[in-house]
Amino acid sequence: VIRSTSLELVSRISPDGRLSLSLSDRPLVRPGPGEVLVEVRAAPINPSDLLLLLGPVDVATLKYTGVSGNPVVEGVVPASALGAVKARLGKAITVGNEGAGVVVDAGPGAGHLLGRTVAFRSSEGSYATHRTIRSGDCLEVPEGVSPEMAASAFINPLTTLCMLETLKREGHRALVHTAAASNLGQMLNRLCIEEGIPLVSIVRSEDQVALLREQGATHVLDSTVPDFPHALRDAIRETGATLAFDAIGGGSMASTILAAMEQVERDKLTEYSRYGAPTHKQVYIYGLLDPGPRIIQTDVGTAWGVGGWLMSWELAKLDPQVVMSLKTRVATGLQTTFASRYAGGFDLGEVLTLAAIGRVTQRATNQKYLVYPNGQGA
Ligand SMILES: NC(=O)c1ccc[n+]([C@@H]2O[C@H](COP(=O)([O-])OP(=O)(O)OC[C@H]3O[C@@H](n4cnc5c(N)ncnc54)[C@H](OP(=O)(O)O)[C@@H]3O)[C@@H](O)[C@H]2O)c1
Repeated sequence: VIRSTSLELVSRISPDGRLSLSLSDRPLVRPGPGEVLVEVRAAPINPSDLLLLLGPVDVATLKYTGVSGNPVVEGVVPASALGAVKARLGKAITVGNEGAGVVVDAGPGAGHLLGRTVAFRSSEGSYATHRTIRSGDCLEVPEGVSPEMAASAFINPLTTLCMLETLKREGHRALVHTAAASNLGQMLNRLCIEEGIPLVSIVRSEDQVALLREQGATHVLDSTVPDFPHALRDAIRETGATLAFDAIGGGSMASTILAAMEQVERDKLTEYSRYGAPTHKQVYIYGLLDPGPRIIQTDVGTAWGVGGWLMSWELAKLDPQVVMSLKTRVATGLQTTFASRYAGGFDLGEVLTLAAIGRVTQRATNQKYLVYPNGQGA
């Protein structure tokens, strides 16, 4: 049965700084040539989705203001943060970067996908009962892969693969990764083992060290122990890492890594140089887990760089055939290398509760959640 509307989650910030999260109906139109209509079954809540969903709201002000059958959550965005989100003020923003579902209608030229399970990315938001997607933007998943298994097929898997593309393009042979017990970090660990690329994983607890070691990781360091800087230097010396991907962003982790790399390179010099070691050391900050200032100390030498990094921009640098081969690799690895773990899920209405928002905003290890836009088990 094809519905006449799609129900979707909408986030709005009014010009005077009121955030409101609600559900909204949008008329469904039949897919056009080369398009399919996907009944969305599962979509992950990733840290980047939270940035869009909640914006810079003060989470302590969030309140449930809905009435039965019409859930609404509201909160206050501090006036000082409004400038950063000026371009979205007053607009209804749909949320959810990616998801998976079943093709329930197809336009001319896309009939081969009817009834198939596909993963997709959508700028229109995946927290919706239905989405119209260009067939070429769908990733057909192998038989036996459920929408739940395919829900995170784009963002994290392609990010790990693009990290290795950056590593190769820039001539590094090993890498350091922070917040490494994340869903992405566990994936990167499996991928690096598969590729034989040395990886130094930095985490922030003993449990997270154990978690990655159980998954075969060789170099896992706990940044909270006193001898962390020494252990980091040893691991960098052993692996030869001159590249790091830092998901934390705020604070001084990027600086600590650069300093350790610089020390290792300096130890190799036979003569003193006031400029330090000439080997270039690069940290890409690719996450905002700590939104505070990024602090770089002066012990990093001269040959260093810190930059931003976004998967979709990296993907755009690659040859379309390479992109296709990376996507095929993800599709075949969804139950192994590129598998994601979830702590649970919510239907569209349940997401708009303080209990659900409280859980997803923890961004904690192995605590990723799904949205089930058509209900769990649909
Ligand atoms: N730039 C890009 O293209 C791109 C693409 C994909 C993902 N990302 C980023 O990749 C990161 C990981 O994503 P994910 O989906 O794998 O996340 P996830 O599974 O939700 O895991 C988040 C991890 O970060 C840790 N963490 C949270 N806050 C931290 C902090 N302040 N300092 C250190 N560790 C912290 C958590 O550890 P605890 O349990 O100790 O809290 C947890 O292990 C996110 O920052 C995401 O935005 C970026």
